Amino acid sequence: MTQLSRLLPLDSHSVLKLAAKSMFEVFEQLAMGMMVVDRDHRIVWISEGYKRFLPALGISDPEDFIGRAVEEVVPNTLMGSVVDSGRAVLVDLLTNQAGTFLVSRLPLHDDAGQVIGAIGMVLLDHPGTNMQPLMTKFTRLQRELDDARRQLAVQRRSRYTIASFIGTSPAAVGLKSMALRVAGTESTVLLLGETGTGKEVLAQAIHAASPRSGGPFIGINIAAVPESLLEAEFFGVAPGAFTGAGTKARDGKFKLASGGTLFLDEVGDMPLPLQAKLLRVLQEQEVEPLGANEVVRVDVRVIAATSRDLPAMVAAGEFRADLFYRLNVLPIRLPALRERLSDLGALADALLADIARCSGMPQRMLTPDALALLAGQRWPGNVRELRNVLEQASVMTDDLQLTPAHLAGVLPGRASPANAPRAVGDGFDPATWVPQAAGEIRPLPDLMADLERHAIGAALRATAGNRVAAAKLLRISRATLYEKLVLYPELRTAGTLPR
Ligand SMILES: Nc1ncnc2c1ncn2[C@@H]1O[C@H](COP(=O)(O)OP(=O)(O)OP(=O)(O)O)[C@@H](O)[C@H]1O
Ligand SMILES: [Mg+2]
Repeated sequence: MTQLSRLLPLDSHSVLKLAAKSMFEVFEQLAMGMMVVDRDHRIVWISEGYKRFLPALGISDPEDFIGRAVEEVVPNTLMGSVVDSGRAVLVDLLTNQAGTFLVSRLPLHDDAGQVIGAIGMVLLDHPGTNMQPLMTKFTRLQRELDDARRQLAVQRRSRYTIASFIGTSPAAVGLKSMALRVAGTESTVLLLGETGTGKEVLAQAIHAASPRSGGPFIGINIAAVPESLLEAEFFGVAPGAFTGAGTKARDGKFKLASGGTLFLDEVGDMPLPLQAKLLRVLQEQEVEPLGANEVVRVDVRVIAATSRDLPAMVAAGEFRADLFYRLNVLPIRLPALRERLSDLGALADALLADIARCSGMPQRMLTPDALALLAGQRWPGNVRELRNVLEQASVMTDDLQLTPAHLAGVLPGRASPANAPRAVGDGFDPATWVPQAAGEIRPLPDLMADLERHAIGAALRATAGNRVAAAKLLRISRATLYEKLVLYPELRTAGTLPR
């Protein structure tokens, strides 16, 4: 009280100035070191104490430190962002090659209130000894974060290269040389082809062969994300974007793919309103997270894929023409398996090796007549269907050689001898299907239900229970397929392996 009353004759402005001066002097003595940077992040002053850290930062002469941009000489510093944002970071831990420090950073203002720089203080240089419990926790969290980042980076690397796209037929060789050529460019690639032809394999391979291979490969399956969540999934969410609990900031796929490649799978399934937004992002290379008022620059190469007929969708008004032209810069058509049957042997060998590796079972081989049998199939589900057939046949037997007898039980169209040899799916072929004995009349709704059940079962078996792919084979929407599965619950496990 007595101390304060001695200040009373001074006006409040002078009191503040005096307090600031004393505070500065106290901190200069107590803190292990202090620095001041200017508006351009350049270091303009350091305290005597700060000089002890310079050798560990690789600087022998303080003259080499003053005048440098702070982020050039002090790794991981946030002084620059304090200047740019004008917001203080009162207490923080800074770790770099000089050690871990408890630091405080405050913006400096001129009389007009403009930020003219920042002051940084090293409060403790061995917080480990003084703040043991906190530091133990910090180190553990830091280690967990590093582990998670490493795992994420592994996941985001592409798994396939051009060499892992199996095939030496003229169609496959042409496709691979085309893929190599486009890999070197920055243009948008559009992969077109039936389901199971290897669009995702090729997208990853193009990324791996491109100058962006060191960056992430991020995929988004547009057909598999509910429409209401797609926008957030694409562009991200700003903190507090929605009222209510749990609206934390979340990065969108565009941001995650920055520096790398974004794979827009099933782009033909994109809702029209989102198509307009996607077009803008592709043109501007900027995204606006939901609820944010500012745009974020992204640096992304886009590879899109679809098994749908985009020009027909454009003509029907279901797909924006301008987006189609923006995506269709470098179109690549993937041949169906039946167009490159000479690759069947090599594909089967590679798939059997992969099945053995993933399952731990010994590797199987196909006898020549088994291969011939496979070559006679239509393969509406392409390489994916081939893989499923080989996998199911391998599970059914311990024999190392797969013969036509082994394949008979799993091949579509072979289960019942009554079926035509090159029938679609499980032998169901609308052209040859005999729904009723001659002369027998059955109600039409019953017959239609039978037909539906047959076709859905066949599609699910051809795609090993993959509902998105099965809906595509049937040319119905996923939602319609789900409705039918409610009607025919016996089909829900069709195509999945017996347990
Ligand atoms: N050329 C190939 N070499 C090796 N494996 C392949 C090849 N093409 C496809 N595959 C395999 O076939 C399966 C289906 O491939 P992928 O997922 O790339 O097909 P897709 O064209 O994206 O199908 P969809 O349109 O249904 O998504 C995968 O298991 C993949 O490993
Ligand atoms: Mg795919």
